[in-house]
Amino acid sequence: MTEKYLTGMLLLSLLLLTTCDDTDNEPVSFQEQILPIFMTRCISCHSSDASFGNLDLSSYESLMSGNNDHPDNLVVPGYPDQSLLYEAVANNEQTVLDYRMPKDGPYLSEVDIQSIYDWIYQGAKDN
Ligand code: HEC
Repeated sequence: MTEKYLTGMLLLSLLLLTTCDDTDNEPVSFQEQILPIFMTRCISCHSSDASFGNLDLSSYESLMSGNNDHPDNLVVPGYPDQSLLYEAVANNEQTVLDYRMPKDGPYLSEVDIQSIYDWIYQGAKDN
């Protein structure tokens, strides 16, 4: 009896473990959460008119088309830590870029940085 109960508990916890991964966070919407961050904090320097670093952040298409310097790793769907976009705004040691965005600050809030992380982790969809 006890053994059966224990096996049941074990299976249940395995099930819970596999369903809760890193981002049991809410799904992040590009249009509703990510683009507004770009629009308020990045677009003054990264639009089709003012495109520092050859980067146009004014739409999903222009973001995902990459740029001349970093065509492949700007956004690597599923891998925020390998994505230059996340690396640029994150609060950790900058490993690839030697600067942090937005240039000259103020930097993004933890909430916004986490949203960008989650959005990339969840597949960087146009949602
Ligand atoms: C005040 C202007 C300014 C703002 C605001 C700004 N950036 Fe930048 N960004 C730059 C400049 C200038 C560069 C190029 C830096 C260099 O090459 O030395 C750059 C480069 C980048 C790069 C690297 C591009 C590449 O391929 O090398 C990324 C990624 C980036 N910015 C993301 C962002 C994001 C995301 C935001 C908003 C959260 C933002 N930037 C806000 C000026 C800005």
